[in-house]
Amino acid sequence: MSLVDLFIDEIDKGLKYSIQNYQTELRPYPANNLDSSSLTEFEKNHSAGLMRVNHSGEVCAQALYRGQALTAKLGETREKMEKAASEELDHLSWCNKRLEELNNKPSILNPLWYGMSFGLGAIAGLIGDKWSLGFVHETEEQVINHLDGHLEKLSKEDNRTKAVVEQMRIDEEQHSKDALEAGAEILPTEIKEIMSAFAKVMTRTSYHI
Ligand SMILES: [Fe+2]
Ligand SMILES: [Fe+2]
Repeated sequence: MSLVDLFIDEIDKGLKYSIQNYQTELRPYPANNLDSSSLTEFEKNHSAGLMRVNHSGEVCAQALYRGQALTAKLGETREKMEKAASEELDHLSWCNKRLEELNNKPSILNPLWYGMSFGLGAIAGLIGDKWSLGFVHETEEQVINHLDGHLEKLSKEDNRTKAVVEQMRIDEEQHSKDALEAGAEILPTEIKEIMSAFAKVMTRTSYHI
C-alpha cells in the first residue's frame, strides 16, 4: 500500500469505528438471553451514560492499536496484539448494541478521542515495542478500574449491561497480562498520571454527550 492509500485507509477506519454504529463481532453478545426489562427511565439513562463512556473507551482502544500498528514492528508480539485488537472490536460492537437497546447514542466526541488516541499510539509505537506494550498494559489497567467502578454504579436489575461489562473486564485483564508477558515496560508515574487525566476528561464528557 502506498502512503496515500494507507492514509485514506486509516481515515476510513477511523470514521467507521468512531462515527458508524459498528456491529460486527466474532464472539456472541454476552447479554443474549438476559432480562433487563424492569429498568426505570432513570436507570436506563444512567446505564446509557456509563455505556457511552465504555464505548468511547473502545473507540480509543481501536485508535491506540491502529496507531501503534502504523509505527511499530512488534515481531512475535504482533499476533497477541492482533488478537487483542479483534477482541476490542467485539467490545465496540457490544457497546453499540447495548446503547441501541437503551435507546441511546454514542458520544458525539468520538472522532476527537479517536484522533488523539491514534496520535498517542503512533508516538508510543515510534518510541519502541517495550514502551508501546507498557502503554497497552497501563491503558488496560486503567480501563479495568473504570469497569470495576461501573459494575458498582450500575442498577442491580441491569443484567444485560452487567454481562457486557463483566466479559469486557475479563478480556481487558487478559490483554494487560499479555502485554506484560510480551515484555511491557512499566511506565513512569508521571506518564500514568497524564494518561489518567486524559481518561478523566474523556469519561466525564462522554457520560453526558
Ligand atoms: Fe476493550
Ligand atoms: Fe483491551
